Amino acid sequence: MKFNTTQLSVSKKLTEQIKNLLSEGNKECAIFSANCHQSIEEMVMLYEELQPRKFDSFVELGVCYGGSLLIYSTLLCLPRASIIGIDIKITDGMRYVKNKLQLEGKNVTFYIENTLTAHKHLQNNSIDLLHIDAQHDNTVYRDWELYYPKVKKDGIILLHDVCLHKGCQSIMNDLITSGASYKIIKSSTTALGIGIIYNDKSINLKKNEH
Ligand SMILES: C[S@@+](CC[C@H](N)C(=O)[O-])C[C@H]1O[C@@H](n2cnc3c(N)ncnc32)[C@H](O)[C@@H]1O
Repeated sequence: MKFNTTQLSVSKKLTEQIKNLLSEGNKECAIFSANCHQSIEEMVMLYEELQPRKFDSFVELGVCYGGSLLIYSTLLCLPRASIIGIDIKITDGMRYVKNKLQLEGKNVTFYIENTLTAHKHLQNNSIDLLHIDAQHDNTVYRDWELYYPKVKKDGIILLHDVCLHKGCQSIMNDLITSGASYKIIKSSTTALGIGIIYNDKSINLKKNEH
């Protein structure tokens, strides 16, 4: 399945800022930057696409070592934003990131829990920016169903790995055919891909057989 993807200019300054944030994390947690499962180029392109918008409430499904949580909270969120991460396990990286973001004034909560049940902690219509990056098989449809109602009108949903994993490719394709407003960011050097869904209208996801 091939998508029309967007290539935007990649700012060197921002690339350096992201690299520095990740390597700073490495001083506290030896394998921090190696465990950021994102393409730096794609994160920069995402930033360029979403600016000048800043988010007040960010939720990430699948935090792992906290690389994307740290970068998106720092670059895309307001100084006193509420940040929520959900993962089945706690890591040293998560502890480091929580401490760092809290010192900067952000309000950080982690739920060490399956996404299947953790949705109960979140109110409907409360999230500005949702990053779905937990399981990458068809479970991603379940995460969409549980967490999409939590996203505010005009909020944004990021789906990671839409050019790599079958479940993510499949849901991205179904969102497109269901009429969602979207853009797909993909770097020239990796096969990951970030799907951006703009919640500018109600999305009724229809699942197709692929
Ligand atoms: C690809 S990693 C996330 C990477 C992270 N967002 C980053 O860019 O650094 C996926 C994470 O999702 C978590 N995960 C997988 N299935 C989950 C589930 N059903 N509920 C909660 N967490 C889950 C895993 O423990 C793992 O840490």
